[in-house]
Amino acid sequence: MNFDGKVVVVTGAGGGIGEGYARAFAAQGMRVVIAEINESAGQRVADSINAGGGTALALRCDVGDEASAKACADAAAARFGGIDYLVNNAAIFHDMRVEGYLDVDMAYLEHFMRINAHGCVIMTRACLPHMEKRGGGAIVNQSSTAAWMHMGFYGVAKLAVNGITSSLARELGPRNIRINAIAPGPTDTPALQKHAGEYAQMMLKSMPIGRLGQPADMANAALFLLSDEASWITGHVLNVDGGQFMRA
Ligand SMILES: NC(=O)c1ccc[n+]([C@@H]2O[C@H](COP(=O)([O-])OP(=O)(O)OC[C@H]3O[C@@H](n4cnc5c(N)ncnc54)[C@H](O)[C@@H]3O)[C@@H](O)[C@H]2O)c1
Repeated sequence: MNFDGKVVVVTGAGGGIGEGYARAFAAQGMRVVIAEINESAGQRVADSINAGGGTALALRCDVGDEASAKACADAAAARFGGIDYLVNNAAIFHDMRVEGYLDVDMAYLEHFMRINAHGCVIMTRACLPHMEKRGGGAIVNQSSTAAWMHMGFYGVAKLAVNGITSSLARELGPRNIRINAIAPGPTDTPALQKHAGEYAQMMLKSMPIGRLGQPADMANAALFLLSDEASWITGHVLNVDGGQFMRA
């Protein structure tokens, strides 16, 4: 896989799995744009990558806000000459409210769905002109095995991400852009520990590979899906989950 000089935008890369993506992509020679709503977190990751000899740029970005997404994509392209890849990792997760459909405030629910479901659409639309100018590209959306676990609106937003992935695959294919999703199982980040640390330990007991996922597991899968080696794969949701979900 050859990623030298490629430009990748990673949303929500100020920590957790997104930081893992950013570091792994930079190590492969990509120029990495860290598109984060938490500016200081994004800057910390960019500074660390640059100090280690990689190339990273932190930009403030709210994936739920079209103007912010466009400004971020335009600034990324202005700095690096274009955009080849987009990884839609951002979500309200660490700070999400844990409530059921019967209780959640409707304004919060609509905001949550805008970020966690439609954020990937907003960012794709913002990056699209810059990817088309390069002749095409590839996108990875961040789903979750929670999509199939009846986990309230968090899971439903990930189900929407899966549906958006296949719908966008049809629209983007003729533009020479592939789009796939990764569905991580329980992955060792501060957000997981906050919301489901004990529950995850219980789940591990019934999983074929009984350990938590690591951000590097997701990064390895994303590298393949972005690469030319995956040039005939689009619209797919790839479980990276230690066998948590298996379909015959
Ligand atoms: N950790 C897990 O077990 C797990 C499992 C499956 C899927 N996921 C998914 O992986 C992704 C990363 O999860 P994580 O565990 O690193 O959680 P996290 O909460 O640390 O990461 C989310 C990042 O997105 C950023 N963000 C939030 N709202 C944003 C917005 N409007 N615009 C831009 N950035 C925004 C946050 O600041 C944060 O850095 C999420 O999409 C999550 O749903 C995580």
